[in-house]
Amino acid sequence: MSSVLIIESSALQQESVYRQLTQQFINQWRTANPTDQIIIRDVALNPIPHMDANLIGGWMKPAGQRSENEQVCLERSNELTSELLTADVLVIALPMYNFTISSTLKAWLDHVIRAGVTFKYTHARPQGVLTGKRAVVLTARGGIHTDDTSDHQEPYLRQLLLFIGIHDITFIHAEVVDLGSIFREKGIRHATTLLTQIV
Ligand SMILES: Cc1cc2nc3c(=O)[nH]c(=O)nc-3n(C[C@H](O)[C@H](O)[C@H](O)COP(=O)(O)O)c2cc1C
Repeated sequence: MSSVLIIESSALQQESVYRQLTQQFINQWRTANPTDQIIIRDVALNPIPHMDANLIGGWMKPAGQRSENEQVCLERSNELTSELLTADVLVIALPMYNFTISSTLKAWLDHVIRAGVTFKYTHARPQGVLTGKRAVVLTARGGIHTDDTSDHQEPYLRQLLLFIGIHDITFIHAEVVDLGSIFREKGIRHATTLLTQIV
């Protein structure tokens, strides 16, 4: 039995475009792997606090020297990292906001990209810990950004995923979803077709 962790991050719920893709992914995955565990963490609905001095203090200080707030922040970070460490498949589902990822997703990333936990320093260079896992990234974009220097989602997320050791990465983008129903349907159809090929 495998475990799938889905990170949802659109500010929208019912109206969200990429959430349709997430739902399709879940339906396909459940059909193909009925005994697998699927965990959904919605960082828009239940936002994770931004990184602050308490979180860094919680990470850096030894037990017994942490303040109450630092301990709380450390425990939250531990919960998020252990969810990620135990997942076999990570699905990150996100809207494009201002050419990049949502701030809610960034807050989650800041909790889980963690020295000594999801990557380690070696003599040569930092080394990712999450080897052998697979990542699927589902996005919705109002316009077109693939093959374009204005895409600050895919290169950024790819770099972070590689950094923590995930090398099997698939991106699926639903593009041009805000330029009328014809383009919208075409963009969603393209993404859903790609999705049927990867589960
Ligand atoms: C604040 C804001 C900023 C946006 N910035 C971009 C952008 O830079 N590029 C783009 O193609 N679409 C942009 N969009 C459009 C969204 O990417 C698009 O509506 C997408 O469907 C959002 O995903 P969702 O429907 O799953 O929430 C933006 C939308 C909002 C609300």
